[in-house]
Amino acid sequence: MPTTPDDPGSAPRREVFGRLADGTEVHRWTLARGGTVLKVLSYGGIVQTLERPDRAGHPANVSLGFDTLAPYTTDSPYFGALIGRYGNRVARGRFTLDGTEHRLPVNDGPNTLHGGDDGWDRRVWHAEPSGAHGLTLRLTSPDGDQGFPGALAVEVDYLLGEAGELRIDYRATTDAPTVVNLTNHLYFNLGGEGGGGIGDHRLGLAAAHYTPVDGTLIPTGEIAPVADTPFDFRRAKPVGRDLRTAHPQLLRAQGYDHNFVLDKGVTAAPEHAATLYDPASGRLMTVATTEPALQFYSGNFLDGTLTGPSGRTYRQGDALCLETQHFPDSPNHPAFPSTVLRPGETYTSSTVYAFAVR
Ligand code: BGC
Repeated sequence: MPTTPDDPGSAPRREVFGRLADGTEVHRWTLARGGTVLKVLSYGGIVQTLERPDRAGHPANVSLGFDTLAPYTTDSPYFGALIGRYGNRVARGRFTLDGTEHRLPVNDGPNTLHGGDDGWDRRVWHAEPSGAHGLTLRLTSPDGDQGFPGALAVEVDYLLGEAGELRIDYRATTDAPTVVNLTNHLYFNLGGEGGGGIGDHRLGLAAAHYTPVDGTLIPTGEIAPVADTPFDFRRAKPVGRDLRTAHPQLLRAQGYDHNFVLDKGVTAAPEHAATLYDPASGRLMTVATTEPALQFYSGNFLDGTLTGPSGRTYRQGDALCLETQHFPDSPNHPAFPSTVLRPGETYTSSTVYAFAVR
């Protein structure tokens, strides 16, 4: 079965997607190569569409989103967005670095989620093509942005490879010590958005451990083995198989919403982290990353109030996220891999989503 349609691709193309309330134009860039069609917004660096063919060659958008700008600015649970400065949670919106306490806006119960209520998912990025099949987004984040110290210069590349694989490269530098943890918040449904739940998707995670959470989804600090728990995805299994187990951690998060500790740790080049397979469409995705962890979120808080481009609503479990990252709340857990970035250093992170059909 060919996994790479004979598709040399086309040069990045720009169109106007909408306008913000203050008149700022938001662009949508389209990249195509190797059977993948990728559409990225300058607003939030959002992946608005990620199209892949099924085993019969029929394309579908395998990521959740909206077909207009307005709901992205008001209602989006981070659909496809670039997340910064700190992906995932920081407990009680505070951390101490080099003896100074920093306060962040709290936007998720008592905690800060995904960089605060005005995170990078809500910024207009400067976008321009890089190479024949890439797009580079740039953002300058001033000192004190959402309470974080240091002015940050950030670049994110979206690149399509020959086989249609999507590679995301993140880089950042700072002028003062700070913490950084960047990710992308794609919601995947390999059957196509609006097509129902992901309970039958087979998920494999190269993680023998995960970080259990407290009642506000902050890691307790424990690095727990997945063996003999619903968190064991070392052999791929349907997402829905153990999802309704009355395990205290699943009750707490209304499903999976946990940081999996990748066995490979931090790596210089992307290494295997996850596989996701939809038996109905035949679409298979693999995730490789340089990051030491991945947040597996089973779309628990989708509640039927949002409508996708398909015209259908999104309900609990209609998609899942595999957010490559450092551990949540690392700034408050000295034993976790460090997220500190200092002047003179460059933060780098790379993740590759590759596709095939079976
Ligand atoms: C978090 C969830 C949150 C979701 C969307 C995920 O990264 O772990 O708890 O509900 O993002 O907001």
